[in-house]
Amino acid sequence: MPGAIHAEGLVKTFGDVRALDGVDLDVPEGTVLGLLGPNGAGKTTAVRCLTTLLRPDSGHATVAGIDVVKHPNQVRRSIGLSGQFAAVDEYLTGRENLQMVGELYQMKAKAAKARAAELLERFHLADAGDRTAKTYSGGMRRRLDLAAALVVSPPVMFMDEPTTGLDPRNRQELWDVIQELVAGGTTLLLTTQYLEEADHLAHDICVVDHGRVIARGTADELKARTGGERVEVVVHDRAHLASGAEILAAFGKGGQVTTEQHTRRLTVPVTGGAKLLAEVIRELDARGIEIDDIGLRRPTLDDVFLSLTGHRAEEEKKDEAGPEAEDSPKDTKETSK
Ligand SMILES: Nc1ncnc2c1ncn2[C@@H]1O[C@H](COP(=O)(O)OP(=O)(O)OP(=O)(O)O)[C@@H](O)[C@H]1O
Ligand SMILES: [Mg+2]
Repeated sequence: MPGAIHAEGLVKTFGDVRALDGVDLDVPEGTVLGLLGPNGAGKTTAVRCLTTLLRPDSGHATVAGIDVVKHPNQVRRSIGLSGQFAAVDEYLTGRENLQMVGELYQMKAKAAKARAAELLERFHLADAGDRTAKTYSGGMRRRLDLAAALVVSPPVMFMDEPTTGLDPRNRQELWDVIQELVAGGTTLLLTTQYLEEADHLAHDICVVDHGRVIARGTADELKARTGGERVEVVVHDRAHLASGAEILAAFGKGGQVTTEQHTRRLTVPVTGGAKLLAEVIRELDARGIEIDDIGLRRPTLDDVFLSLTGHRAEEEKKDEAGPEAEDSPKDTKETSK
């Protein structure tokens, strides 16, 4: 049985750019899928196709069992969307923004008001609730936009980079909100550029690059493919790089040590965590190798990319997406018949 979100062979081109180049997805009900990828990978385009804001050139997708191209209005009634760029009405207060969403969804005025107050509190916007949104900081807008997506509790939610631009405290709090939502049975597709975020929230992760899913699995599976944890050592004296590498090789899985001459940095994939770190320090010390820094590092999106594609995620930035507003209104209309 197809999941709450299901896509097969989604293709979307913009001129020469194949923003989606045959994407397949399946998100079982009540689970979280993390769409992880660098700038320009196609994450927003995928979200926009699945939320009926863009019509795919080909392929097929259903959300809550409903075809997104054939029945966009029905799909819209089953979903909540928090876009990459906060969509709040600048001239309304935070409270009015939330009440308006409730009323759009046919909530009674009193219920919409109560829900708005509850969400302002939950997203730490109560003090600013009666100020117009144009006076809000970036992080406050982001939070207001997410609150707006939660006014009604739709069975399927889409969040496009929900925590980009939030400070660590607000990010952690949003993660808690998301986990509560999912515990309540919501199915969620979220996009992110951070492996850590996908790791924390998602049951399954799809890594996208150039409009294609290049890997899928749980965070642990992806990290294992990347070599899991690694020990990084910066030796004090460049002359010690070779002997340091020899020592690290003995601790490494398979022994591949990466040496960066200019930063005097040695890196090796390991298993065994902090205990191993202490052993490495002892061994380096015993051989008289002075170090400037040592640490245990978990793989980043960059490491995942490097190992999957042979290139770093940063190289993609030249393809950076333009503002969403660039879309021709025609595209939106096509789907709302
Ligand atoms: N409306 C558009 N017109 C032209 N090209 C577009 C449009 N929307 C997206 N693209 C292109 O499609 C590709 C995928 O863009 P998309 O916005 O889906 O990437 P993304 O993964 O969301 O990136 P980011 O992390 O920067 O948000 C990019 O090369 C982008 O320039
Ligand atoms: Mg995007």
